[in-house]
This record gives sequence, C-alpha cells and structure tokens, in this order.
Amino acid sequence: MAQYDVIVIGSGPGGYVAAIRAAQLGLKTACVEGRETLGGTCLNVGCIPSKALLHATHMLHEAEANFATMGLKGKAPSVDWKAMQEYKQSTVDSNTSGIEFLFKKNKIDWLKGWGSIPEAGKVKVGDDVHEAKNIIVATGSSPASLPGIEIDEKTVVSSTGALSLPKVPKKMVVVGAGVIGLEMGSVYARLGTEVTVIEYLDHITPGMDKEVQRTLQRLLKKQGLDFIMGAAVQSVDTARGKAKLSYTLRKDDSSHEMDADVVLIATGRKAHTDGLGLADLGVKMSDRGVIQTDDQWRTNVPGIYAIGDCIPGPMLAHKAEDEGMACAEVIAGKHGHVNYGVIPGVIYTHPEVATVGVTEEQLKDEGRAYKVGKFSFMGNARAKAVFAADGFVKLLADKETDRVLGAHIIGPGAGDLIHEICVAMEFGASAEDIALTCHAHPTWSEAVREAALACGDGPIHS
Ligand code: NAI
Repeated sequence: MAQYDVIVIGSGPGGYVAAIRAAQLGLKTACVEGRETLGGTCLNVGCIPSKALLHATHMLHEAEANFATMGLKGKAPSVDWKAMQEYKQSTVDSNTSGIEFLFKKNKIDWLKGWGSIPEAGKVKVGDDVHEAKNIIVATGSSPASLPGIEIDEKTVVSSTGALSLPKVPKKMVVVGAGVIGLEMGSVYARLGTEVTVIEYLDHITPGMDKEVQRTLQRLLKKQGLDFIMGAAVQSVDTARGKAKLSYTLRKDDSSHEMDADVVLIATGRKAHTDGLGLADLGVKMSDRGVIQTDDQWRTNVPGIYAIGDCIPGPMLAHKAEDEGMACAEVIAGKHGHVNYGVIPGVIYTHPEVATVGVTEEQLKDEGRAYKVGKFSFMGNARAKAVFAADGFVKLLADKETDRVLGAHIIGPGAGDLIHEICVAMEFGASAEDIALTCHAHPTWSEAVREAALACGDGPIHS
C-alpha cells in the first residue's frame, strides 16, 4: 500500500493542475484516472477536440466565403470527414500525452483505474487501497439528458457523440442554445448540415449580456442556423437510425414534430459524483450530487477536498484549474485564492464571444450607477481587413469611480481580448487606465481601448 500526501481523483484540468501544483510544492502526489488517457473531458471529448473541429470548419468557411475576394482563386476545398477526425484526434493525443509527460516530470504517480474513497485517508483503485493525507475530488461532470430521453451516442448524442459522428448528418436538431449547442451547431452548419436549434427560453446563452445574445443569434442565423425559441422538447423517438422529436411551443402550448438524422442534447451538465462512496462518508452534497465545500475547497469531512465541475460555480475548465492550483496551495499550508468575480467565459463560435464580470442587466437589477463604453468592430481597421467587423466591445464601469466592472465582447479574437480586461479588473483598474494604455495599431485590441475611451470623453473612430 503506497502512502501519499495528496491523491487527486480525476485528471481533467482541475485534477491534473492540482496534482502538478501539489508536486511542485513538494508533496508526494498521485492522480487517479480511469480513462486510457489523461486530461478528462476537456482534453479528450470537450474543449480541445471541439476547437479542432471549429478551426477546420472555420477554415472551410473562410475558403468558401472570402478567398475569392482576397484574390485567392481555385476550387474551394472539399471535406474529407475521416481525415478531419484524424486531425482532431491527433490534436487530442498531443495534448493528453503532454499531460503524461508533465506527470513524469513532476514525479506524479498515475493510478490507472476508477477511484473511490472507502474511508477518509484512503483511496481504492481496482483492488489496491492507497493511503493519502489529503484527497482532492476532481471528478468533473457528465452530460445531463432530459427526462425520458435516452442518449445512445448514435442518433441521440451528447457533445461526446457529436464530436465523433461516423458521417456528416444531413439534418441535425440541437436541443439547447447554450455553449455546447452553439459551438457544435456551428461546426455542422459549416459542413453543410441543416441545423435547427430548439431552445426552451426566448433567448440564447442564458445569463449573458442581452445585446451580445441578440447579436450572436443574428449572426448565427446568417450562417444558416435555424432557431426555434420558447420550445420545450417533450420526447425523441428513434427508429432505423433516424430521430423524431416532439416539442411544444410555450406561447400557445401547440405541439410540433421534427425529423432529424441526429439530435444533439446540449441542455447542461451534471456533477459526476456517483460511485465515489461520498454519501457513505457523509460528505455534504446537494440533491443533484454537487459537493459542498468551504472557501478553501474543504468538504465537511476532514482531509477530503473538492474542486471543479463537481462543486458549485460555472462548469469551466479554467475555473477548475484555478481551484486546483489554489487547493494544492491550501493543502501545502499556503494561501490559495480564486477571485470568482473575474472568471472569463468564452464561446468559440465565429465570431467569438467573451465575457467577464457583471452584465448590464445585473447592474440594473442591483440599482447601481454605471457607465457603458461601447465600440463596434466596424471602426477597427484590422477587423475590416480580415472580414471580421461584426460585433462590438462593451465595457461597464462604475459611474463614480470609473472602476471596470465587466466586459462583453463579440467579435474577432474575443476570447483573447477579454484577458486585458481580466487583468485590469484584478488590479482594480479604471476604464481610463485602459484608455491611457498604448495599444498597437492595427490590432483588434484597439477596440477594447476605444470602448474604454467611450466610458470617458469618447472614442476616436466612431
Ligand atoms: P448550457 O447551460 O450552456 O445551455 C443549456 C441550454 O439548454 C440553455 O439555454 C437552456 O435554457 C436549454 N434547455 C434546457 N432544457 C431544455 C429543453 N427541455 N428544451 C430546450 N432547451 C432546453 O449547457 P451546455 O451548452 O450543455 O454546456 C454545459 C456546460 O459546459 C456549461 O456549463 C458550459 O459552460 C460548459 N461548456 C463550456 C464551453 C466553453 O467554455 N466554451 C464549451 C462547452 C461546454
């Protein structure tokens, strides 16, 4: 029986980062993972493979839409789906093997198999029981289906199945206009699939800035995605590899049906905490299996910590990574900290969407005095040069102090641009601080500066 200072259960972005940080801090560390490869959902069947498909299909779209205008003549590329899948898999493989390398470099033992906690201080993997002074549960989340709808990963798929369909479907229905639905819907729409998104609410991407929601939906419609809003999906029947989906419209309770080759269920994810023995140990969890922790990621059972998608908060890889690092630091006797007010969210559609901090709607609800600085990418020379002038940067600042409170960007490189604002918020900067910072020309980041200028005396280019 091996003895460890820390055993992390789960090797996703939360778990592997926690393990690396714990090892860097001198703790004898192991990480339990039952998949064939490290990296969890994100690297194997989530963020990374979806980015490969989004990139490949974006290139296809660029070739079809803009190459001729730029003087790049010739036949538009055709799609070899098998080769695209191989490219996706090689991207995954290089990332998962990279984590394996980092484990070796940091002398972290990979305990292969599915772990459980028979008692505090012990982790069982297969027939072996290992001792650990501290256990970090980082078991992530799994797709949540709808009542009565079975995901077979063939005709009715989760994001996992959607990444590896045997062929490009003719007709796909996406249930849920959240992050997964819009990213995967974009991939298939660009490949020529007829994509219909069915959403329960009257708007897409719940919780996001309303102007961003409207702009993104308009731009996705232009790209060929069809939307049925305010619709509750009732059932999906499958026969001979086809699906029949029924839904009711909330406005008049009318019932409708729709056929599809593939139905993607993208209605959220649930904490993955079954089978760990947590309930028997008395670890406090919500009715939905979400582990409750204090602000140092301690559960109510001494020596057991939890991070990432299996605790409350946004289900985002980078939130899990931050918690993983901070939790390892707490275990090592340091002061791990996560600033939950500055966690960016990105949707990798085209254009990208990125958001951090509060929304205007939240500020209104709270009755706070605020300023809005908005700048359209139409006024950004670089964006115009590369057919990316759709969208805007919207910066929110406190009316009195000018302190940056949040930002919502839809446009080119939004997922990278947002980090300037994250850093500004971490440092308690004002909009004027951003406005007074020299931004290289011509870059998309000038739109961020212009939005900051719009919080003061006004932008130059609009
Ligand atoms: P989501 O919570 O983002 O969106 C689910 C959508 O489904 C919502 O709009 C909801 O109103 C709708 N919905 C729920 N029940 C419905 C019904 N019966 N009929 C029609 N619509 C219904 O969930 P999603 O997209 O599945 O993503 C799961 C998690 O994974 C999220 O927390 C997301 O943040 C994370 N994720 C993040 C990514 C990123 O950061 N780029 C990429 C993929 C996932």
